[in-house]
Amino acid sequence: MIKALRGMRDILPPLSQKYLYFLQEASRIARNYGFEYIQTPLLEETQLFRRSVGESSDIVGKEMYQFTDKGGNDVVLRPEGTAGVVRSFIEHKLDRQGGVHRFYYHGSMFRYERPQKGRFRQFHQFGVESFGEASVYEDGAIILLAKAILDRFSIPYSLKINSLGCPTCLPPYKERLVEFLRSHDDICDDCKRRRDLNPIRVLDCKNPTCQQIYTQAPKLLDHLCGQCEEEFGKLQELLTAQGVAYEIDPNLVRGLDYYTKTAFEFVSSGLGAQNAVAGGGRYDRLVEQLGGKPTPAVGFAIGIERILDLFEYEPKREGFYLGALDEECVDEIFDLATKKRARSRVLLEYRPKSLKAHLKAADRQKARYACIIGENERSSKTVWIKDLERKEEKVVPKEQFLEME
Ligand code: HAM
Repeated sequence: MIKALRGMRDILPPLSQKYLYFLQEASRIARNYGFEYIQTPLLEETQLFRRSVGESSDIVGKEMYQFTDKGGNDVVLRPEGTAGVVRSFIEHKLDRQGGVHRFYYHGSMFRYERPQKGRFRQFHQFGVESFGEASVYEDGAIILLAKAILDRFSIPYSLKINSLGCPTCLPPYKERLVEFLRSHDDICDDCKRRRDLNPIRVLDCKNPTCQQIYTQAPKLLDHLCGQCEEEFGKLQELLTAQGVAYEIDPNLVRGLDYYTKTAFEFVSSGLGAQNAVAGGGRYDRLVEQLGGKPTPAVGFAIGIERILDLFEYEPKREGFYLGALDEECVDEIFDLATKKRARSRVLLEYRPKSLKAHLKAADRQKARYACIIGENERSSKTVWIKDLERKEEKVVPKEQFLEME
């Protein structure tokens, strides 16, 4: 038997209904915040992720689905959404237009990780990216947008925030950190590699020895320049004023190299080891790094598999179940269904059954109304209807049935 690949899974009903419901609500909320839908390809040039997500990240280091296509191009199944949206933003010259551009997206991402609960090799993200707005109010709005989506589904979370500095304060801090790291030879090999590629990435190393050592390391928050410090203070003020509880986590550096200034993560205790449900931050240098005009940017992505694990969803009763009591009425309900389907969801049963059997089937398929035609209804041009939500029964003329919402 051919099975789905390890770490990849099918999304069948009723989970697929829950998935669509999440997308519908998250998209609505993103639109309320001024974002428009964007779609970018699943395949991109490998260089795009090397130059954005970065060489020091696990994603680029070991997790990319990378291959050479039939034309000899070095390509990757996208491991995340931001890089592709930035590429598109530059390719379509939006960086030259000026103004603010806000996008949301959703779809498959691919990372060759070790599968476990909440961690897949093909997974789905809902993300937003905002370009052209340097104000820290935008960071605040983006965090509030992520929170609004989590709140919509009553998901318990805690929010961690940090500032990763800017080109003024980060390089001198990195030098101090590297100096510190050079004086500690017992850090793990991964950290030694990161020390040379992007030293701040060592701070979220999970190795207990490293963690112990880094409690003594210089802290970036003590080395922020005046502007970064002021903005980080303003962000906290905005969150507090909006009633958002947060925790400052000086070791929150995120697993991708492109961040500057604000970084944040929403974690949920309901998830187990893979507890990050959403993450994001500012990346003011990335557009320029990928060849565009310098453009400030900020965004986040939610892990859809993880969020779906955190709320219950009971699909609402919907539409009309149509059934016949005898063979002579089947053509009639077939015709009625076609007319009704122009406006409503119709679940049509071709086989004649007893009333009891039809009611059971309508209930199982979560129809709102069970609509039945037998000899009596056929001769009087009526339909027998049971409202399965209100438990009410009635007989109505066919025309009236076709008008029902
Ligand atoms: P990320 O933190 O790598 O950020 O991923 C965002 C979310 O995707 C995570 O918080 C998690 O919920 C989910 N996720 C990541 N890997 C997996 C996996 N293997 N299986 C299931 N879920 C997973 C980004 O991807 C950035 N592009 C976010 C961003 C947008 N930053 C700025 N703009």
